[in-house]
Amino acid sequence: MRVVFLGAPGVGKGTQAEQAATRLAIARISTGDLLRAGVAAKLPLGLEAKRYMDRGELVPDNVVIGLVDNKIGSPECRKGFILDGFPRTVPQADSLSDILRKRRWALDRVIHFVIPREAVVTRLTGRRSCPHCAAVYHLDYRPPKREGRCDACGAALAQRSDDTKDTVESRLAVYEAQTAPLIDYYRKADVLADLDGMGSVEDVRARLFALLPGV
Ligand code: AP5
Repeated sequence: MRVVFLGAPGVGKGTQAEQAATRLAIARISTGDLLRAGVAAKLPLGLEAKRYMDRGELVPDNVVIGLVDNKIGSPECRKGFILDGFPRTVPQADSLSDILRKRRWALDRVIHFVIPREAVVTRLTGRRSCPHCAAVYHLDYRPPKREGRCDACGAALAQRSDDTKDTVESRLAVYEAQTAPLIDYYRKADVLADLDGMGSVEDVRARLFALLPGV
């Protein structure tokens, strides 16, 4: 199964992608996580990307497309994958078609997560992440068992540098201008399914699985 998770920042793509990938035994490709790993490792690509990420802007297409093409070619993606946060521009979507076509693969579904804008701001400003293993929490909706510590590895949780209120507003504006056009792009291709992202993580998961072919 090859699926894209599309939606504004904070709609819950990452939370659901992690669980769905485990359940379906396929890979999860999060371009945000790949870029943050590059930042943490102080790779030239990561340091270039950080300038854009801290401002809530998109990293240039050529950087992200190269990362995804490489990842899709890896053995872990042979059985299928969930693309979480890619594509985010029309050129990225066109490149994804080329990447899949050259492997004679098709996209099975694009899941479009929908939640109100106010909920996005609450989810993002309350999010805490593990810098060590990338596990994601929320101060109110998904608190860790031990305050400030990751359940999985015990590391100290941190707020992402782009989860401040001002940067969240910039990210939402960037989403409307550059990513939202993909909703029509994929609706026209007849692969898009809208998913109501409100409610508990479990409720959203149940609705998500009902939209995925073969689950
Ligand atoms: P990225 O890391 O992809 O961020 P994003 O798309 O902005 O998405 P988020 O990770 O913020 O949100 P999410 O939808 O995954 O929500 P989550 O599940 O965590 O990208 C970061 C940056 O990298 C970009 O700004 C850009 O600079 C760059 N970048 C990445 N990809 C790129 C690309 N393709 N091209 C160019 N640049 C790119 O949930 C959010 C919070 O809500 C969590 O705290 C979670 O616990 C909580 N939550 C989840 N579900 C629920 C629920 N049902 N109820 C209550 N709380 C919930």
